[in-house]
Amino acid sequence: MKKIAFFNNKGGVGKTTFAFHIGYMLEKLGKRVLFVDLDPQCNLTAHILNDEEIDKVWSDSGSSIYDAVEPIISGSGDVKFFSPHKLENRDVWLYAGDLLLSDYEGLLSEAWTQVLAGQERGYRASSAITRLVNLASSDLDIDYVIFDVGPNFGALNRAVLLDCDNIFVPMVPDLFSLRGSQNLGRVLSEWIRVYSDAMRRVGDLQFDVPHGKPKFSGYVLQQFNNYRNRKTKAWDRWGQQVPEYINKYVVIPLGTSGVLKLANYQLGEFKNYHSLIPMAQDAQKPIYELTSQDGVVGGHHEYVKNCNNEFRELALKFIEIVD
Ligand SMILES: Nc1ncnc2c1ncn2[C@@H]1O[C@H](COP(=O)(O)OP(=O)(O)OP(=O)(O)O)[C@@H](O)[C@H]1O
Ligand SMILES: [Mg+2]
Repeated sequence: MKKIAFFNNKGGVGKTTFAFHIGYMLEKLGKRVLFVDLDPQCNLTAHILNDEEIDKVWSDSGSSIYDAVEPIISGSGDVKFFSPHKLENRDVWLYAGDLLLSDYEGLLSEAWTQVLAGQERGYRASSAITRLVNLASSDLDIDYVIFDVGPNFGALNRAVLLDCDNIFVPMVPDLFSLRGSQNLGRVLSEWIRVYSDAMRRVGDLQFDVPHGKPKFSGYVLQQFNNYRNRKTKAWDRWGQQVPEYINKYVVIPLGTSGVLKLANYQLGEFKNYHSLIPMAQDAQKPIYELTSQDGVVGGHHEYVKNCNNEFRELALKFIEIVD
Protein backbone atom coordinates (compact mmCIF):
# COMPACT_ATOMS: atom_id res chain seq x y z
CA MET A 1 0.00 0.00 0.00
CA LYS A 2 1.26 3.45 -0.86
CA LYS A 3 -0.06 6.75 0.47
CA ILE A 4 -0.10 9.64 -1.93
CA ALA A 5 -1.04 13.31 -1.86
CA PHE A 6 -1.40 15.80 -4.67
CA PHE A 7 -0.33 18.90 -2.86
CA ASN A 8 0.30 22.54 -3.52
CA ASN A 9 -0.22 25.31 -0.98
CA LYS A 10 -1.48 27.41 -3.89
CA GLY A 11 -5.28 27.09 -4.11
CA GLY A 12 -7.31 26.18 -7.16
CA VAL A 13 -4.55 24.55 -9.18
CA GLY A 14 -6.62 21.43 -9.83
CA LYS A 15 -5.46 19.15 -7.01
CA THR A 16 -8.87 17.65 -6.30
CA THR A 17 -9.92 17.25 -9.92
CA PHE A 18 -6.65 15.56 -10.77
CA ALA A 19 -6.72 13.26 -7.73
CA PHE A 20 -10.24 12.16 -8.65
CA HIS A 21 -9.34 11.42 -12.27
CA ILE A 22 -6.12 9.56 -11.63
CA GLY A 23 -7.66 7.59 -8.76
CA TYR A 24 -10.49 6.27 -10.92
CA MET A 25 -8.06 5.43 -13.71
CA LEU A 26 -5.86 3.47 -11.31
CA GLU A 27 -8.96 1.48 -10.39
CA LYS A 28 -9.69 0.87 -14.07
CA LEU A 29 -6.20 -0.58 -14.29
CA GLY A 30 -7.05 -3.10 -11.58
CA LYS A 31 -5.90 -1.27 -8.46
CA ARG A 32 -7.85 -0.85 -5.21
CA VAL A 33 -8.07 2.80 -4.29
CA LEU A 34 -9.00 4.51 -1.02
CA PHE A 35 -9.69 8.24 -1.21
CA VAL A 36 -9.43 10.24 1.99
CA ASP A 37 -10.94 13.72 1.84
CA LEU A 38 -9.07 15.86 4.36
CA ASP A 39 -10.07 19.21 2.95
CA PRO A 40 -12.88 20.84 4.97
CA GLN A 41 -14.15 22.20 1.62
CA CYS A 42 -15.12 18.56 0.84
CA ASN A 43 -14.81 19.02 -2.92
CA LEU A 44 -13.59 15.48 -3.52
CA THR A 45 -16.48 14.06 -1.50
CA ALA A 46 -18.93 16.11 -3.57
CA HIS A 47 -17.34 14.76 -6.76
CA ILE A 48 -17.70 11.14 -5.63
CA LEU A 49 -20.98 11.03 -3.68
CA ASN A 50 -24.46 12.30 -4.57
CA ASP A 51 -26.40 14.60 -2.22
CA GLU A 52 -28.31 11.75 -0.63
CA GLU A 53 -25.13 9.83 0.13
CA ILE A 54 -23.49 12.95 1.54
CA ASP A 55 -26.52 13.55 3.81
CA LYS A 56 -26.10 10.03 5.09
CA VAL A 57 -22.39 10.32 5.96
CA TRP A 58 -23.01 13.67 7.63
CA SER A 59 -26.00 12.44 9.65
CA ASP A 60 -25.83 11.76 13.41
CA SER A 61 -24.90 8.14 12.92
CA GLY A 62 -22.49 9.31 10.25
CA SER A 63 -19.18 8.08 9.02
CA SER A 64 -17.21 11.06 7.81
CA ILE A 65 -13.55 11.48 8.61
CA TYR A 66 -14.63 13.87 11.37
CA ASP A 67 -16.57 11.09 13.12
CA ALA A 68 -13.34 9.10 13.26
CA VAL A 69 -11.40 11.82 15.07
CA GLU A 70 -14.29 13.24 17.12
CA PRO A 71 -13.47 11.23 20.31
CA ILE A 72 -9.98 12.76 20.25
CA ILE A 73 -11.36 16.27 19.80
CA SER A 74 -13.93 15.88 22.57
CA GLY A 75 -11.37 14.17 24.81
CA SER A 76 -13.61 11.12 25.21
CA GLY A 77 -11.31 8.55 23.66
CA ASP A 78 -9.12 7.46 20.80
CA VAL A 79 -9.76 7.39 17.06
CA LYS A 80 -12.98 5.56 16.13
CA PHE A 81 -12.35 2.87 13.56
CA PHE A 82 -14.91 2.12 10.85
CA SER A 83 -14.76 1.06 7.23
CA PRO A 84 -14.77 3.67 4.51
CA HIS A 85 -17.72 4.06 2.16
CA LYS A 86 -17.45 1.65 -0.79
CA LEU A 87 -18.62 2.66 -4.23
CA GLU A 88 -21.04 0.30 -5.90
CA ASN A 89 -19.43 -1.88 -8.57
CA ARG A 90 -16.02 -0.30 -8.12
CA ASP A 91 -12.92 -1.03 -6.10
CA VAL A 92 -12.99 2.54 -4.84
CA TRP A 93 -13.52 3.54 -1.20
CA LEU A 94 -13.89 6.93 0.42
CA TYR A 95 -13.47 8.44 3.84
CA ALA A 96 -15.75 11.41 3.25
CA GLY A 97 -14.68 14.91 4.18
CA ASP A 98 -16.38 17.11 6.74
CA LEU A 99 -16.62 20.85 7.31
CA LEU A 100 -16.06 20.18 11.00
CA LEU A 101 -12.56 18.88 10.29
CA SER A 102 -11.25 22.37 11.01
CA ASP A 103 -11.83 21.57 14.72
CA TYR A 104 -9.23 18.82 14.44
CA GLU A 105 -6.80 21.29 12.90
CA GLY A 106 -6.70 23.36 16.13
CA LEU A 107 -6.06 20.29 18.24
CA LEU A 108 -3.27 19.17 15.94
CA SER A 109 -1.37 22.43 16.40
CA GLU A 110 -1.28 21.73 20.12
CA ALA A 111 -0.38 18.09 19.51
CA TRP A 112 2.60 19.14 17.40
CA THR A 113 4.11 20.94 20.40
CA GLN A 114 3.71 17.71 22.38
CA VAL A 115 5.28 15.71 19.55
CA LEU A 116 8.30 17.99 19.61
CA ALA A 117 8.49 17.57 23.39
CA GLY A 118 8.47 13.79 22.93
CA GLN A 119 5.08 13.31 24.62
CA GLU A 120 3.12 10.22 23.60
CA ARG A 121 -0.19 12.10 23.85
CA GLY A 122 0.84 14.31 20.94
CA TYR A 123 1.76 11.31 18.80
CA ARG A 124 -1.58 9.69 19.55
CA ALA A 125 -3.55 12.71 18.37
CA SER A 126 -1.32 13.34 15.36
CA SER A 127 -1.42 9.73 14.19
CA ALA A 128 -5.22 9.27 14.31
CA ILE A 129 -5.65 9.40 10.54
CA THR A 130 -2.54 7.34 9.97
CA ARG A 131 -3.89 4.59 12.21
CA LEU A 132 -7.39 4.72 10.71
CA VAL A 133 -6.08 4.55 7.17
CA ASN A 134 -3.46 1.87 7.86
CA LEU A 135 -6.04 -0.43 9.42
CA ALA A 136 -8.64 0.10 6.67
CA SER A 137 -6.02 -0.39 3.96
CA SER A 138 -4.82 -3.68 5.32
CA ASP A 139 -8.42 -4.91 5.90
CA LEU A 140 -9.45 -3.98 2.37
CA ASP A 141 -6.16 -4.80 0.65
CA ILE A 142 -5.83 -1.27 -0.72
CA ASP A 143 -3.09 -0.50 -3.25
CA TYR A 144 -3.19 3.29 -3.14
CA VAL A 145 -4.48 5.72 -0.55
CA ILE A 146 -5.07 9.10 -2.15
CA PHE A 147 -5.36 12.04 0.24
CA ASP A 148 -7.04 15.19 -0.94
CA VAL A 149 -5.88 18.12 1.16
CA GLY A 150 -6.59 21.83 1.30
CA PRO A 151 -4.25 24.51 -0.05
CA ASN A 152 -2.32 25.40 3.09
CA PHE A 153 0.60 24.56 5.37
CA GLY A 154 -1.66 23.90 8.37
CA ALA A 155 -1.26 21.30 11.08
CA LEU A 156 -3.60 18.78 9.46
CA ASN A 157 -1.68 18.86 6.21
CA ARG A 158 1.57 18.53 8.12
CA ALA A 159 0.36 15.39 9.90
CA VAL A 160 -0.87 13.88 6.64
CA LEU A 161 1.97 14.86 4.34
CA LEU A 162 4.50 13.48 6.85
CA ASP A 163 2.72 10.16 6.49
CA CYS A 164 2.69 10.08 2.69
CA ASP A 165 5.07 7.96 0.66
CA ASN A 166 4.78 10.16 -2.41
CA ILE A 167 3.86 13.77 -2.95
CA PHE A 168 3.00 15.06 -6.41
CA VAL A 169 2.62 18.76 -7.08
CA PRO A 170 -0.05 20.07 -9.46
CA MET A 171 1.13 23.33 -11.05
CA VAL A 172 -0.61 25.89 -13.20
CA PRO A 173 1.84 27.63 -15.51
CA ASP A 174 1.15 31.25 -14.63
CA LEU A 175 2.84 33.90 -12.52
CA PHE A 176 0.66 33.56 -9.40
CA SER A 177 0.88 29.84 -9.34
CA LEU A 178 4.65 29.74 -9.74
CA ARG A 179 5.15 32.38 -7.09
CA GLY A 180 2.67 30.61 -4.82
CA SER A 181 4.74 27.45 -4.99
CA GLN A 182 8.01 29.00 -3.89
CA ASN A 183 7.72 27.87 -0.26
CA LEU A 184 6.87 24.27 -1.01
CA GLY A 185 10.23 22.57 -0.69
CA ARG A 186 11.42 24.82 2.11
CA VAL A 187 8.41 24.17 4.36
CA LEU A 188 8.22 20.45 3.62
CA SER A 189 11.93 19.96 4.30
CA GLU A 190 11.63 21.86 7.58
CA TRP A 191 8.75 19.63 8.70
CA ILE A 192 10.69 16.50 7.78
CA ARG A 193 13.80 17.68 9.63
CA VAL A 194 12.00 18.74 12.83
CA TYR A 195 9.86 15.59 12.90
CA SER A 196 12.81 13.29 12.40
CA ASP A 197 14.63 14.98 15.32
CA ALA A 198 11.53 14.56 17.49
CA MET A 199 11.22 10.88 16.52
CA ARG A 200 14.79 10.28 17.61
CA ARG A 201 13.96 11.67 21.05
CA VAL A 202 10.76 9.72 21.69
CA GLY A 203 10.87 6.18 23.06
CA ASP A 204 9.25 3.11 21.52
CA LEU A 205 5.65 3.83 20.53
CA GLN A 206 3.22 0.93 20.51
CA PHE A 207 1.13 2.29 17.63
CA ASP A 208 1.59 3.52 14.05
CA VAL A 209 2.65 7.13 13.62
CA PRO A 210 3.47 9.10 10.45
CA HIS A 211 6.77 7.72 9.16
CA GLY A 212 8.04 11.20 8.31
CA LYS A 213 9.73 10.28 5.03
CA PRO A 214 7.56 11.56 2.18
CA LYS A 215 9.22 11.92 -1.20
CA PHE A 216 8.50 14.52 -3.84
CA SER A 217 7.77 12.36 -6.88
CA GLY A 218 6.82 14.73 -9.67
CA TYR A 219 4.56 17.53 -10.81
CA VAL A 220 1.57 17.79 -13.10
CA LEU A 221 1.03 20.72 -15.45
CA GLN A 222 -2.62 21.68 -15.25
CA GLN A 223 -5.18 23.63 -17.21
CA PHE A 224 -3.42 24.52 -20.38
CA ASN A 225 -5.27 26.62 -22.86
CA ASN A 226 -4.84 24.75 -26.08
CA TYR A 227 -5.24 26.34 -29.44
CA ARG A 228 -5.15 23.98 -32.38
CA ASN A 229 -3.34 21.50 -30.19
CA ARG A 230 -0.59 23.96 -29.34
CA LYS A 231 -0.27 25.57 -25.98
CA THR A 232 -1.03 29.26 -26.33
CA LYS A 233 2.09 31.39 -26.22
CA ALA A 234 1.66 32.96 -22.79
CA TRP A 235 1.04 29.61 -21.09
CA ASP A 236 3.95 28.14 -22.95
CA ARG A 237 6.28 30.85 -21.72
CA TRP A 238 5.39 30.15 -18.07
CA GLY A 239 5.26 26.42 -18.72
CA GLN A 240 8.87 26.45 -19.84
CA GLN A 241 9.87 27.90 -16.49
CA VAL A 242 8.21 25.16 -14.46
CA PRO A 243 11.12 22.64 -14.48
CA GLU A 244 13.46 25.36 -13.26
CA TYR A 245 11.01 26.39 -10.50
CA ILE A 246 10.54 22.80 -9.41
CA ASN A 247 14.27 22.27 -9.25
CA LYS A 248 14.95 25.51 -7.39
CA TYR A 249 11.99 25.54 -4.98
CA VAL A 250 11.21 21.86 -4.47
CA VAL A 251 14.02 19.48 -5.44
CA ILE A 252 16.99 21.43 -4.06
CA PRO A 253 15.40 22.42 -0.70
CA LEU A 254 14.17 18.88 -0.10
CA GLY A 255 17.58 17.35 -0.81
CA THR A 256 18.29 13.79 -1.92
CA SER A 257 16.41 12.13 0.96
CA GLY A 258 13.20 14.05 0.30
CA VAL A 259 13.01 13.50 -3.43
CA LEU A 260 12.69 10.44 -5.63
CA LYS A 261 15.57 10.31 -8.06
CA LEU A 262 13.99 10.75 -11.47
CA ALA A 263 15.36 11.98 -14.76
CA ASN A 264 12.26 14.05 -15.44
CA TYR A 265 9.85 15.22 -12.77
CA GLN A 266 6.91 15.92 -15.04
CA LEU A 267 4.35 13.19 -14.45
CA GLY A 268 2.19 14.61 -17.20
CA GLU A 269 -0.28 17.27 -18.22
CA PHE A 270 -3.95 17.79 -17.43
CA LYS A 271 -5.39 20.04 -20.12
CA ASN A 272 -8.20 22.51 -19.82
CA TYR A 273 -11.31 20.43 -20.47
CA HIS A 274 -13.66 23.42 -20.30
CA SER A 275 -17.33 22.38 -20.08
CA LEU A 276 -16.50 18.70 -19.70
CA ILE A 277 -15.30 19.48 -16.17
CA PRO A 278 -18.71 20.57 -14.77
CA MET A 279 -20.33 17.80 -16.80
CA ALA A 280 -18.08 15.28 -15.04
CA GLN A 281 -18.97 16.83 -11.67
CA ASP A 282 -22.71 16.55 -12.41
CA ALA A 283 -22.38 12.96 -13.56
CA GLN A 284 -20.04 12.07 -10.68
CA LYS A 285 -17.74 10.44 -13.16
CA PRO A 286 -14.33 11.19 -14.59
CA ILE A 287 -14.38 12.95 -17.96
CA TYR A 288 -13.12 9.83 -19.71
CA GLU A 289 -16.25 7.90 -18.67
CA LEU A 290 -18.79 10.48 -19.87
CA THR A 291 -21.29 9.39 -22.52
CA SER A 292 -24.03 10.97 -24.65
CA GLN A 293 -26.44 10.31 -21.75
CA ASP A 294 -24.35 12.62 -19.60
CA GLY A 295 -24.58 15.34 -22.24
CA VAL A 296 -21.52 14.74 -24.43
CA VAL A 297 -22.25 15.88 -27.97
CA GLY A 298 -20.45 16.00 -31.31
CA GLY A 299 -16.76 16.75 -31.21
CA HIS A 300 -16.66 16.41 -27.43
CA HIS A 301 -16.64 12.63 -27.82
CA GLU A 302 -13.14 13.02 -29.22
CA TYR A 303 -12.05 14.91 -26.08
CA VAL A 304 -13.50 12.18 -23.90
CA LYS A 305 -11.48 9.60 -25.79
CA ASN A 306 -8.31 11.69 -25.64
CA CYS A 307 -8.81 12.19 -21.93
CA ASN A 308 -8.98 8.44 -21.49
CA ASN A 309 -5.70 7.95 -23.36
CA GLU A 310 -4.02 10.75 -21.43
CA PHE A 311 -5.04 9.43 -18.03
CA ARG A 312 -4.14 5.88 -18.96
CA GLU A 313 -0.62 7.07 -19.78
CA LEU A 314 -0.51 9.18 -16.62
CA ALA A 315 -1.69 6.32 -14.42
CA LEU A 316 0.80 3.87 -15.92
CA LYS A 317 3.62 6.31 -15.32
CA PHE A 318 2.32 6.96 -11.81
CA ILE A 319 2.38 3.22 -11.04
CA GLU A 320 5.93 2.93 -12.36
CA ILE A 321 7.11 5.84 -10.18
CA VAL A 322 5.22 4.95 -6.99
CA ASP A 323 5.83 1.20 -7.01
N1 LIG B 1 -8.25 20.28 -16.32
C1 LIG B 1 -9.15 21.21 -16.02
N2 LIG B 1 -9.81 21.89 -17.00
C2 LIG B 1 -10.72 22.85 -16.70
N3 LIG B 1 -11.08 23.20 -15.44
C3 LIG B 1 -10.46 22.55 -14.43
C4 LIG B 1 -9.48 21.54 -14.65
N4 LIG B 1 -9.05 21.09 -13.45
C5 LIG B 1 -9.75 21.78 -12.52
N5 LIG B 1 -10.58 22.66 -13.08
C6 LIG B 1 -11.49 23.62 -12.39
O1 LIG B 1 -10.65 24.53 -11.70
C7 LIG B 1 -11.16 24.80 -10.40
C8 LIG B 1 -10.15 24.36 -9.35
O2 LIG B 1 -9.98 22.94 -9.42
P1 LIG B 1 -9.83 22.07 -8.13
O3 LIG B 1 -10.94 22.30 -7.17
O4 LIG B 1 -9.60 20.67 -8.56
O5 LIG B 1 -8.49 22.71 -7.56
P2 LIG B 1 -7.84 22.53 -6.13
O6 LIG B 1 -6.39 22.78 -6.28
O7 LIG B 1 -8.26 21.24 -5.53
O8 LIG B 1 -8.51 23.73 -5.33
P3 LIG B 1 -8.39 23.99 -3.75
O9 LIG B 1 -7.03 24.56 -3.55
O10 LIG B 1 -9.51 24.96 -3.47
O11 LIG B 1 -8.58 22.67 -3.08
C9 LIG B 1 -12.48 24.04 -10.29
O12 LIG B 1 -13.52 24.89 -10.62
C10 LIG B 1 -12.34 22.94 -11.33
O13 LIG B 1 -13.59 22.55 -11.79
MG1 LIG C 1 -9.17 20.85 -3.71
